[in-house]
Amino acid sequence: MLGRLNHVAIAVPDLEAATAVYRDTLGAAVSDRQALPEHGVTVVFVDTGNSKIELLEPLGEASPIAAFLTKNPAGGVHHVCYEVDDILAARDRLADAGARVLGDGTPRIGAHGKPVLFLHPKDFMGTLVELEQK
Ligand code: CO
Repeated sequence: MLGRLNHVAIAVPDLEAATAVYRDTLGAAVSDRQALPEHGVTVVFVDTGNSKIELLEPLGEASPIAAFLTKNPAGGVHHVCYEVDDILAARDRLADAGARVLGDGTPRIGAHGKPVLFLHPKDFMGTLVELEQK
């Protein structure tokens, strides 16, 4: 069921500063900023060749990463995203196994224009897991 690692997401308090670290200090190729108001974040993708780093900055009042940044003011690893062939089949298999899918279980369109779901960190060793339809 589980496919390749699509990205590791890092929540940051200052997207410009974080982008500069990856672009200038680490010499990575970075994308333009992309505002995703329906997800409450602005994102920049860093190309690491075999995968991506997703830098996340809060957008709007009710950003889902605001509480995370209150607990981790310097930023930190927020979630990992794995690709799956069939997101609905993956959701049903996980639900049958007792894993909790966040929200109402209906996939939403993510930063890459593909359906995504999030899984409860308590069911995955303290790590928030995103699944993205391949
Ligand atoms: Co993500």
